[in-house]
Amino acid sequence: MNVESAILPEPNVCHIGAQRRLSEPCSIVIFGASGDLTSRKLIPAFYHLCKEKQMPASFCIIGFARREKTDESWRAELREALDRFSRTKPVDEEVWRLFAANLYYCVGDLADAAAYAKLEQKLSSFKSAPLRQNLLFYLATQPSQFGEAIERLHAAQLLQRGHSQGGWQRIVVEKPFGHDLASAHLLNDELTRYADEQQVCRIDHYLGKETVQNILMFRFSNSIFEQLWNRNSIDHVQITVSEKLGVGARGGYYEEAGALRDMVQNHMLQVLALTAMEPPVSLESECIRDEKVKLLKSIRPLTRQDVARQVVRGQYFAGAIQGQPVPGYRQEPKVKTDSNVETYVALKLFIDNWRWSGVPFFLRTGKYLPESTSEARIQFRPTPNVLFAAQCGPSLDPNSLALRLQPQEGIYLRFNGKVPGMDMSLRPVRMNFSYNAEYGAYTPEAYERLLLDALVGDATLFIRRDEVEAAWLIIDSIRAEWTKPLTNREFYAAGTWGPEASDDMLAQSNHAWHEPRIEFD
Ligand code: BG6
Repeated sequence: MNVESAILPEPNVCHIGAQRRLSEPCSIVIFGASGDLTSRKLIPAFYHLCKEKQMPASFCIIGFARREKTDESWRAELREALDRFSRTKPVDEEVWRLFAANLYYCVGDLADAAAYAKLEQKLSSFKSAPLRQNLLFYLATQPSQFGEAIERLHAAQLLQRGHSQGGWQRIVVEKPFGHDLASAHLLNDELTRYADEQQVCRIDHYLGKETVQNILMFRFSNSIFEQLWNRNSIDHVQITVSEKLGVGARGGYYEEAGALRDMVQNHMLQVLALTAMEPPVSLESECIRDEKVKLLKSIRPLTRQDVARQVVRGQYFAGAIQGQPVPGYRQEPKVKTDSNVETYVALKLFIDNWRWSGVPFFLRTGKYLPESTSEARIQFRPTPNVLFAAQCGPSLDPNSLALRLQPQEGIYLRFNGKVPGMDMSLRPVRMNFSYNAEYGAYTPEAYERLLLDALVGDATLFIRRDEVEAAWLIIDSIRAEWTKPLTNREFYAAGTWGPEASDDMLAQSNHAWHEPRIEFD
C-alpha cells in the first residue's frame, strides 16, 4: 500500500434517489422504427440498459413502421446495427439473446386506423395488464405526423390523459420542437391534446450528457464556487459548442434549420440556463425546471439595434480540416447555391436579474470549426491594477474555470503561478478534474439516461413546454432581423474559428474568444 492510499479516506459517495430508479413493466412503441435513430441510438441504449440491469423485469419493444418486416428480420437487422453502434464491444451474446426476445415489429401506416387496432391486439396478446397499460410511445417521425399519431392512439384507447386504470402512458419526442414560437405552440397543443404535460418527454440529448448533468451538482453541492458565482466576481461567461464536422448529408434539414434553431434554441440555451439559474428550492423536477424557465425569461429581450450589435451569423466557404480540403456550405448537397443559412452564430446576451446584472454571456456555435468541443467558461474579474497586474498589464491572465462538456470531460481551473527560476515570471497553470482520470472511461450514452428517465417518469431532464416557448421567443426576435443576405465579413473559411465579425463583436467590449484547445487550455 502506498502512503497516499493509506492516508486518503474512502470518498464519501452519497446516493441520491436510489429508490427512484425502479421502472415498472411496460411496452415501448417506436413509431418510425425503420429510421436511423432506432438502430443508431435507441436500440443500443435499451440494450445497454438491459446489460446494466436497469430495464423493467418484463418489457417489450415494438417497432412500428411502414416497411414490411417480421419480428425475426427486424431483430437480425438490429443485431447487425448493434455491432456498429454499440458503445461497448463486442456485443454480449447472452444479454442480446435475452433482450432480443422482447423485440417485436408491427407493420403499419401512421395514418391508418387499422394499424393501431393491430398494435392494440399485439399489446393485448402479451396477456399482461402492465404490458398493455404502461405504454411509452417514442415518436421518431416527422413532427408533422405527431398530431395524427396522437389522435389515432387515443382513438384506439392506447393513450389517455393522466393515469388510467392503474396504468400510465407517455410520449417521447425530440427536437425540432417547432420552427418558431407559433409553430411550437401548435405542436405543444397537439402533444397535449390527449395527454398532460407531465406525460410528454421532450428530449434534448445535451441534458443526458453526464457533464451537463454535473453542472447542477457542481454548482449546488460545493460552497466555494457558489460564493463566486455572480456579478461581483465574474467578468463574463463564454459558452462554446464547436464542431469539426460540416453539414454533410444533412443539407436538406439544415437549409430549414440553421445554427440558431439547430443548436442555440435548445442545447446552448439549456447549458446557459443550467450555468446561470438560481438554486432550486428542492431537487423535484418541477422546481429545477421552474428555475430554468425563470432564467430564460430573465434574458434581456433583443431590440433591432441589439441584434445588429450583439448577434453575428456566419457561413463557411471551402477550406481545410486537418489538411483535407472541404467544400463550402453552398456546395453541399441539397443546399441552395445562394443560401444565406447560417452555419455559425455568436451572440452576446445579458441576464437581467440580481445575480448577473451587467455580466455578458457570449455564446457561439458553428460547423467546420477547428475543434469539436463544448464548454462553458467562467471568466473571473481581473485583479486590481496594482502589484503584479500593474507590472504585467494585459499579459496577466485573469482566472477562469472551464466546465468542459466534451471531449476530455472535466473541470479546469486556471490561475497564475510563479515559474520556477531566478527571475520573477508568472504564467497560468491549471488545476484539473478529469472524468477519465477520476472515474475511468465509463460514460453512458445520453440516450440511456434519458430513456430510463422516460420509463420511470422522472421529468427533470426533459424540456417543459414553457421552456421551449421561452427559448423560441429569444430566437424569433433574432431571426426577425435577419432579412438581408450575408455580407463578406460574415463568411469564414472551413477550419477557422468563425467570421471576423464575431471577434469584432467581443472586441467592442475589450473581450476576446478563448479558443478551447484539447491538449492544453
Ligand atoms: C444535434 C444537431 O442536435 O446536435 C446537430 O442537430 C449537431 O447538428 C449535434 O451536430 C451535436 O451534438 P453532440 O452531442 O455531437 O455535441
